[in-house]
Amino acid sequence: MSIGSNFFDELRNRITLSEVISRRIKITRAGREYKACCPFHNEKTPSFTINDDKQFYHCFGCGAHGDVIKFVTEHDNIGFMDAVEMLAAEAGMKIPQQSPKAVQQAKQENNLYDLLEEATILMEQCLNDPRNFDAMSYLLDRGINREIIKQFRIGFAPEDGQYIRKALLQKGYSDKDMIKAGLLRPMAQGGEPYAFFRDRIIFPVPDRRGRIVAYGGRILPEHMRPPQRGDFVPPKYINSSETPLFHKGRMLYGEPTARRAAAEGRDIILVEGYLDVIACAQAGIKGVLAPMGTAVTEEQIISMWQMIPSESKIPILCFDGDNAGRKAAIRVCNRILPLLEPGKSVNFAFMPDGEDPDSLIKSIGVSGFREVIKKSIPLFDFLWNTYTQGKDINTPDMKASIKKQLEHEISRISDKDVQNFYRSDLRVRVSKIFYPKRYYGYNTGGGKKTGQISIKPQMPKIKKSQKQHLVSKILLCTIINHPHIFDSIEEVLLNMVIKDKKMDSLRQNIVSFLCDYNDANREKLIDHLEKKGFSQEIRDICNESVYVHASFCSPSADKGNILGMWLEYWNDCNNAGLEEEIQNGWKRAYFDSNEKEEEKLKSLLSMKSRGE
Ligand code: CTP
Ligand code: MN
Repeated sequence: MSIGSNFFDELRNRITLSEVISRRIKITRAGREYKACCPFHNEKTPSFTINDDKQFYHCFGCGAHGDVIKFVTEHDNIGFMDAVEMLAAEAGMKIPQQSPKAVQQAKQENNLYDLLEEATILMEQCLNDPRNFDAMSYLLDRGINREIIKQFRIGFAPEDGQYIRKALLQKGYSDKDMIKAGLLRPMAQGGEPYAFFRDRIIFPVPDRRGRIVAYGGRILPEHMRPPQRGDFVPPKYINSSETPLFHKGRMLYGEPTARRAAAEGRDIILVEGYLDVIACAQAGIKGVLAPMGTAVTEEQIISMWQMIPSESKIPILCFDGDNAGRKAAIRVCNRILPLLEPGKSVNFAFMPDGEDPDSLIKSIGVSGFREVIKKSIPLFDFLWNTYTQGKDINTPDMKASIKKQLEHEISRISDKDVQNFYRSDLRVRVSKIFYPKRYYGYNTGGGKKTGQISIKPQMPKIKKSQKQHLVSKILLCTIINHPHIFDSIEEVLLNMVIKDKKMDSLRQNIVSFLCDYNDANREKLIDHLEKKGFSQEIRDICNESVYVHASFCSPSADKGNILGMWLEYWNDCNNAGLEEEIQNGWKRAYFDSNEKEEEKLKSLLSMKSRGE
């Protein structure tokens, strides 16, 4: 049997749309309908209407329209079946199941959900019990307010390991199910099972639909708990182990709230602990999640991407600023690289040393945490920093080594498009550290540092335009004869100023061919260029009259040195060009007002140079 339209009709009939919506946003009655500010777009005056008779909502502002199922999927940011199951449970309806086995399994699971719900209520009551005031006062002293305690359903598991068990047995639940749900530990040799969590503050873990599926239990500070026996030091936190309802590596603490926040377009932020999620929520930062005592998994990353409805799915991962935090970030980065897809990535944020989001918010306020989030960096920058920070990048060996390591990391990205863009960004970065002078030069503004730029004496003493032509010939010739250097110089080649139209077009053809064919060699490239009509240019460029000026461009040059020589040559010429530009600029500024004067000067200068 499958779910038929009868089922949905019945579901819509049993549920009152306005009730479901009023539990999520504020609505007011307006005649036979209800009105509200639309939750799907930003507005100050209500244009969102709810009609219980017709069983739909409609927004006159943004056109949002649908029935109760659609409202819940979009508002809670959950899947269709999740919404249907949630509403069916509210309406007391059973979803028709596929097979008797599935029915049985669903029944058992439902029973476990009910059981954990009851246990959660009990532990919430325990926290409010005056006998456990220590636990409550610990939370209040930490600055967690009662509203948040309620919202996150924080509870307390009493020291008595039979308390919860007895209460639930009375309600008709079995030991077997309590063990299955992770509430009880079985006792060896037929003893009574007893509570897994004892004398701990309890953080119930909701699944994406808000059903409690597990717990984290924090120990009370030493002065609030009974003296320990022997030298056993209890762990600060214990977490439910895997159960049929709880998959540690797939779930995240804070999911239902974060999903709603993501649907509202807020940032998704991953922090380390329960109390960080809670402190952020109390400070008004809603899209915050945490893994539960384990490192972040692939599934958790994918789950965060899935909850972000926009095209750009970039959750922010928050790490401690210390060494351990950095190492954890590197491990996560390693895990994410193969998963990257267009639009799906992560940013990295680092906390000040010794702080977590909770302590930071407490010490300097929420603005301090927002600042950390604002300073988060893209995955690419994190990778770059990881391999370059603190490294000596002044030797060719180090440059090559860094480049190689980064290339290796990038090669692990499976999506080809993403990988290619990472590669080209890497080239830009690499050229920045390879040619600091170039960037230096452009950054000098008013030319204050021109003293650092010199024309090398070995530059050929020929007329400027001829010289420029020769420079481009040499640079292109090298690439034609040694295409293997292309990968490292692509960006430089693209940005080079080549005035001669035919040469410029030759450059474009070289670039596009080498971009397309990774395994291109000299012969293939020349063959291609000849077919494109550059035979004459190749004869002009690739001959001894050019090789005499720069031995590295000759086909017989030693392959190992070519890249370095090319770069050095390019760098020198580039700086020479800069020097000239500056001088020209100065001249222009000086003579702008009087062209005739400039003409006169020119002729004087040329006369002078001819020795007249
Ligand atoms: N954790 C755990 N088991 C431990 C210690 C920590 O599972 N023995 C997990 C918990 O999910 C915890 C998170 O790691 O929330 C971060 O641990 P920690 O920084 O030590 O705790 P806080 O969350 O900062 O808690 P508190 O501020 O109360 O120290
Ligand atoms: Mn903390």
